[in-house]
Amino acid sequence: MTTTVLDTQTERLATLAACSGDTPDLVIDLGALQTNVDRIAAAAAAHGVGVRPHIKTHKLIQVARMQMNAGAVGIQVAKLGEAEVMVEAGILDVLVGYPIVGKAKVERLVGLAELARVTVSLDALEVARPIAEAAERRGVELNFLIEIDTGLSRIGVPPGEEAIGLAEQVAALPATHLIGVLTHEGHAYTRAGSEEELRTITREACERTVATARELRARGTAAPVISVGSSGTFRFAIEVDGVTEVRPGTYVFNDRTQIGLGAATPADVAAVVVATVVSGHRAGEVVLDAGSKALTSDRMISNSVSDTFGLVAADDGSVGEIVRLSEEHAVASFPQGVKAPGVGERVAIIPNHICPVVNLFEKATVTLDGAVVDRWPVAARGLLR
Ligand SMILES: Cc1ncc(COP(=O)(O)O)c(C=O)c1O
Repeated sequence: MTTTVLDTQTERLATLAACSGDTPDLVIDLGALQTNVDRIAAAAAAHGVGVRPHIKTHKLIQVARMQMNAGAVGIQVAKLGEAEVMVEAGILDVLVGYPIVGKAKVERLVGLAELARVTVSLDALEVARPIAEAAERRGVELNFLIEIDTGLSRIGVPPGEEAIGLAEQVAALPATHLIGVLTHEGHAYTRAGSEEELRTITREACERTVATARELRARGTAAPVISVGSSGTFRFAIEVDGVTEVRPGTYVFNDRTQIGLGAATPADVAAVVVATVVSGHRAGEVVLDAGSKALTSDRMISNSVSDTFGLVAADDGSVGEIVRLSEEHAVASFPQGVKAPGVGERVAIIPNHICPVVNLFEKATVTLDGAVVDRWPVAARGLLR
């Protein structure tokens, strides 16, 4: 079992835990959140790169507004439902970073383009064509980005000739504008075994994306946007010459994966799940009232070996890990010699992967300097379409 040192953060985490009215609860540290938003904005600006945060992490209108106020060029979503919530809230530049397929979704996408500047990424002409036809029919304009697979083996065409060929075909479609290329170098999370490897994998993915866009431009297609990114690779992606936009998501809250990748420290964790100890009959183990329905059963997204489900910080500074989960129970284990918390005591949990965790909560408790200042509805939670 590896126990990440929480440094001087256990006191802050205990304060967050004490702020919750009832558990399990999602508790946000507004100060840390603002610091994260500002830090990424400043680092990108220093490199002349735009930030387009992926709002799937927080699904909160209030956080999207903080990001826009900090200078984001727009937002990215994965789901049309997320886009609809954000456009309704007045965020008027949205990248739908997911292929929109099927009549119902195409109509909603084009409807959004009547209200906001909308861009959609895709990797096939069969996806682009019905969107262009619908846009032409309704008299709206829409932007396309070609998604390039730089190693994640998920969505995307290979960089180079194939991507350029598709981009040229998409550029010829009516009512729509091919504005560039996009990649998500998420494979760096699981492939990199060191800081140096993370840098190398990120640079290679970004450079191949830039090279493809430059070749496309050289052949006469305007492709001003080169969009890359994730929170784990952000610090290396902004250094790549030619990148115009980065799309980190998790950085607003951070999690155990980001700490493991060296993209964040425990001080940068801005959202925790607060739970209460409800049982404890085995030495070094306690049961918490937050199971997989509050924490998910996601593992760390990394190549390091960890089969536990989150870090647990108790009131008195003890740190343990969640070793077993069922729907409404988490079993937290504390190392020998460390005092486990007793029944009724609160703990703060740093989840392995915060994004799906937020999606499980109706509301978040918002705290500033140890006091509750608001409760935010997770406005886009559960919007899977
Ligand atoms: C296409 C795409 N872009 C950007 C991101 C943001 O990455 P992260 O949440 O790791 O910052 C993701 C994450 O899933 C993604 O799928």
